Amino acid sequence: MTSLNQIRSTFIDFFKVRDHLVVPSAPLVPQDDPTLMFVNAGMVPFKNYFTGAATPPAPRAVSSQKCVRAGGKHNDLDNVGYTARHHTFFEMLGNFSFGDYFKEGAIESAWTLITKEFGLSKDKLLVTVFHTDEEAANLWKKIAGFSDDRIIRIATADNFWSMGDTGPCGPCSEIFIDQGPELAGGPPGSPDEDGDRFLEFWNLVFMQFERFEDGTERPLPKPQIDTGMGLERMAAIMQGVKSNYETDLFRTLIAASEDATGVKAEGAATPSHRVIADHLRSTSFLIADGVSPSNEGRGYVLRRIMRRAMRHAHILGAAEPLMHRLVPTLVQEMGEAYPELRRAEPVITETLRQEEERFRRTLGRGMTLLEEATAELSEGGVLPGETAFKLYDTYGFPLDLTQDAVRAKGVTVDLEGFDAAMKRQKDQAREAWTGSGQVAAAAEWFALRDRLGPTAFVGYDTTEATGETLSIVVEGVETDRLPAAATGQVLFDRTPFYAESGGQAGDVGEVEWDGGRGRILDTQKQAGDLHVHVLEVTEGELVPGARVRLAVDAERRTATRANHSATHLLHAALRNVLGPHVSQKGQMVDGERIRFDFSHGQPLTPDEIDRIEAEVNAVVRQNLPAETKDMAPQEAIEAGAMALFGEKYGDVVRVLTLGHALEGEGAYSVELCGGTHVARTGDIALFKIVSEGGVAAGVRRIEALTGEAARRWLLDQAQVARSLAEQFKVPVAEVGARVEALEAQRRKLEKELARVMDGVGGKDLRPIAEEFKKQVADGIIALIGVAEGKAAVTVAVTGAAKDRFAAPDLAKAAVVAMGGQGAGGRPDFAQGGAPDGAKAEEGLAAIKAAIAG
Ligand code: ALA
Repeated sequence: MTSLNQIRSTFIDFFKVRDHLVVPSAPLVPQDDPTLMFVNAGMVPFKNYFTGAATPPAPRAVSSQKCVRAGGKHNDLDNVGYTARHHTFFEMLGNFSFGDYFKEGAIESAWTLITKEFGLSKDKLLVTVFHTDEEAANLWKKIAGFSDDRIIRIATADNFWSMGDTGPCGPCSEIFIDQGPELAGGPPGSPDEDGDRFLEFWNLVFMQFERFEDGTERPLPKPQIDTGMGLERMAAIMQGVKSNYETDLFRTLIAASEDATGVKAEGAATPSHRVIADHLRSTSFLIADGVSPSNEGRGYVLRRIMRRAMRHAHILGAAEPLMHRLVPTLVQEMGEAYPELRRAEPVITETLRQEEERFRRTLGRGMTLLEEATAELSEGGVLPGETAFKLYDTYGFPLDLTQDAVRAKGVTVDLEGFDAAMKRQKDQAREAWTGSGQVAAAAEWFALRDRLGPTAFVGYDTTEATGETLSIVVEGVETDRLPAAATGQVLFDRTPFYAESGGQAGDVGEVEWDGGRGRILDTQKQAGDLHVHVLEVTEGELVPGARVRLAVDAERRTATRANHSATHLLHAALRNVLGPHVSQKGQMVDGERIRFDFSHGQPLTPDEIDRIEAEVNAVVRQNLPAETKDMAPQEAIEAGAMALFGEKYGDVVRVLTLGHALEGEGAYSVELCGGTHVARTGDIALFKIVSEGGVAAGVRRIEALTGEAARRWLLDQAQVARSLAEQFKVPVAEVGARVEALEAQRRKLEKELARVMDGVGGKDLRPIAEEFKKQVADGIIALIGVAEGKAAVTVAVTGAAKDRFAAPDLAKAAVVAMGGQGAGGRPDFAQGGAPDGAKAEEGLAAIKAAIAG
């Protein structure tokens, strides 16, 4: 049997020998592409090469690309688990030509690969072409020797491929295999083409156009080739099985799911195991590429997939969270081809476990509600949109999970009703996906980048430099002058200004030229390596060609360096103290402070915070030189660098090493980083965490200060302590003991006002309590009167005690202790009665216990 892993490497090797550059899979989160939620085809990372906006590294390429189709165009989520072919995650094998070979080369190599290397029989193969594409039809005749009846002409969008609403597109030719007459279904283009008999497994796209937002299509500079073979389908064909879920990889994943649940993948349990296996792949790969479950955008798609899988685990009766227990099997199967999976294993496991634990709290109750709501419905029935919305809003059921749940009964959801209910919650609707906010002018920056070349960044070693003005852009248009008081985006040939990236803020500073000067308010990165200066002219006028003297605000830069290096130390300390599941989720460092987000499930304890601070400061005091080295990405990862999941790296990466391990051998922190850093760790001077809190499920945020800012913060704290000491008239070290003594005294005063009064009935207690209130400005008055064997309770709360205690709760505690039911009144005054006056002392004790908490 040819395994899925073998098919992948045969494909890559075949094209490698044919002069294709082997390109590793890009992360699932598209880089610099606001139009797309996830990479959904092999060509996505090459989009700018196809449009001509960027120059490809080689004329031909081959890749095995991770793809997710679970949101937006190409959304396959609904069918997953119920059909033989649908997946949320799959691998697309592709060969690409960037203006090199075209239709003939593509068809020839495809034919050779499938018939010679993969050994498919010509008799079982057939192809489709776009109805006007005579050239492709003739090439199939010539190369494969097909007669006309094996070349099916299709006039629909099935044979015209586009990545999304905009971008490169073109006619395509799909290759099908006839799996035999025992399966139902007709050839492509026939009314019963949806059956399983004829299976499409490779799409050759002849990229010829670029589509724009207004719907127009323009020819690309050069025709190109993009192909996509579904690896899972090819594996099913070569392993002679009728479903992707019966291939080697899926059999292994499903066996793990069977083991963990003790339920065989038979009958009604089959779709559930399939959903679990499929969703395990998409969720794990998404987490490895830096996506965290949340309620918006990409994070919500991830949550939807996770919860859908978790419902199926529930159906299988899994008593404990299931998904995270399957991660080792996935890593074992796919970790070699995708090392990022192995590196992220602890984060994947932790994220899945936490989400499942959280969702299980509402899943069971939501399922009961759903069962009640559908009990009356029969096949063809419709679940009210309001109910689906309630499940969504209160029980965390994504809509597709509800749809999936009622599907077995043949019930559908009233989508209009759901939308209407949703609309009423306007705020949530506004959180819908709106892209990353980047302007759609990326193509223009790429054009400038091609014309002018990259900006030479000299700011690692210096904060001042001279340069030449290359281009001035105002509101998206190049212009030939920037007059006084105007602001524009300016490119120089070289610059010491760091452009915002990797969570380090862009530099600010001054610029001067003969006859003028200006301020640089920010520096942003575009087209990979252009430093775009946001420049405001304060005097004179700036024109292209002008020589300028550039000076970064050095004080701010020094503080930024210290903050950025300290962030690396913090990251390492967090992993040492909390565990390797900690990974960076985001950071922002500037001249003021550090903000660092990371994956971790619980609040940090004061002791953990102390240990983290102590470690970082110990490395600061080592005062060892910071070392930076340029390396190939793979070399860096092998050297132990912590890669930031989901980041895209160029051919060379900077690796920053800081400090010496506190125990054992080696460096303290090794990370890939393009930012600016201290010369020696001692330049950080002092590191202080000033806050810790949660920002999203499983994500914590630390804010910290270094150097002078940290010193000032500590000084402020010391001043608070000093003024308390003055107020209490004790030394600072005794403030704690003094506060404790005062607290004890206050509690004692409260107790003294609790008493039992014999022979006093309920009516008489109120005026007595009112009288006591005059004496007690801040406290609790609890009175129990006993008359004719019965008890009456009155509780009043005054002053600041009202913030901590509610009178009815305290009164009720006494009433219950004396065999009664409850008490009523206002938050600061309550009364109640109980049958057993003999228990008055117990009633009072109950109130005291409630006060003590
Ligand atoms: N980009 C083409 C597809 O996804 C190959 O089918």
